Amino acid sequence: MARRALLKAALMLGGFLALGSGAARAQGNLVMYCSVNEQWCRALATAFQQQTGIRVDMTRQSSGEMYARLRAERNNPRGDVWFGGTGDPHLQAAAEELTEPYQSPTLPQLQDWARRQAERSNNRTVGVYMGALGYGYNETELRRRNLTAPRCWSDLLRPEFRGEVQMADPNASGTAYTMLATMVQLMGEEPAFDYLKRLHRNIDQYPSIGAAPAQATARGETLIGVVFQHDAIDAQRANPNVRVVSPCEGTGYEIGSMSIVRGARNPEQARRFYEWVLTPAAQALGATNGSLQVPSNPATPMPPGAPDLSQIRLIDYDFARYGSTAERTRLLARWTREVKNAR
Ligand code: F6P
Repeated sequence: MARRALLKAALMLGGFLALGSGAARAQGNLVMYCSVNEQWCRALATAFQQQTGIRVDMTRQSSGEMYARLRAERNNPRGDVWFGGTGDPHLQAAAEELTEPYQSPTLPQLQDWARRQAERSNNRTVGVYMGALGYGYNETELRRRNLTAPRCWSDLLRPEFRGEVQMADPNASGTAYTMLATMVQLMGEEPAFDYLKRLHRNIDQYPSIGAAPAQATARGETLIGVVFQHDAIDAQRANPNVRVVSPCEGTGYEIGSMSIVRGARNPEQARRFYEWVLTPAAQALGATNGSLQVPSNPATPMPPGAPDLSQIRLIDYDFARYGSTAERTRLLARWTREVKNAR
């Protein structure tokens, strides 16, 4: 009898230990939606998986597309955390309660602009990096055609740049939406649409990825690419003759953001990822993966070669307004109707 009881206890203990070691091995899964460049997305997924044992399934899509995906998945969320991409669609997702409030204990240590992004969304999103808009041009091609270098937004309308300028489609890309909202804030809405219609004549194509025009500029497929300045600097790795312009009239900027998906299937892992991303060690992975944005944790070293934002004429970008559903939807519809699809 005593032997049977002992055996039973031993079996129970064995089962318990097996369960324990199994649980230690399998730390669960994380579905990471990512809207920065592919290389950085992969580096984050790999490092987090290696450090935590949490299996990461990563998907990259542009900011506007990822917002649309969250919306489509509202009743059956697939993603757990959304890393990066411009702040405007994160704010829109927050207002539509597609994302979850979460107040990180690291928040007080972050840059003001990152904290303000959390405040204006009732903690449904947070700033992870900042970057200024501008454009890059291919100096070799410019010289070959004997053209003078552009310096301002107004220069992009020059007739000799017909079919030589590329920017992404603002419906898909947060970069291009930042450009649209920047023009409206710099010039006023009517002059901005007049500008965008005239610019349309010079556009060769509207890809869906915001940084794609920088790469096309490096390859000489287009002369000028409207992108974030850090993406034009990154394109210099492929072609050192890409020049970066901070337009003379002033320019807009992004607060790249991160949000936890509402109804996430792996909320614990999502919060763990969120906290990890705010550490200097994780933020430093941007610099080593071609991403020269300003990190939101001031303890992260500034990526070498990053644009010095204190030297750039930044507008006072109204994130609350241009990240609101009403304004974003209205401006995108107007741009599609009057610029892209105009006859
Ligand atoms: O990763 C480069 C980057 O320019 C980010 O700074 C930005 O948030 C993101 O891409 C925007 O990508 P898209 O324009 O494709 O939404």
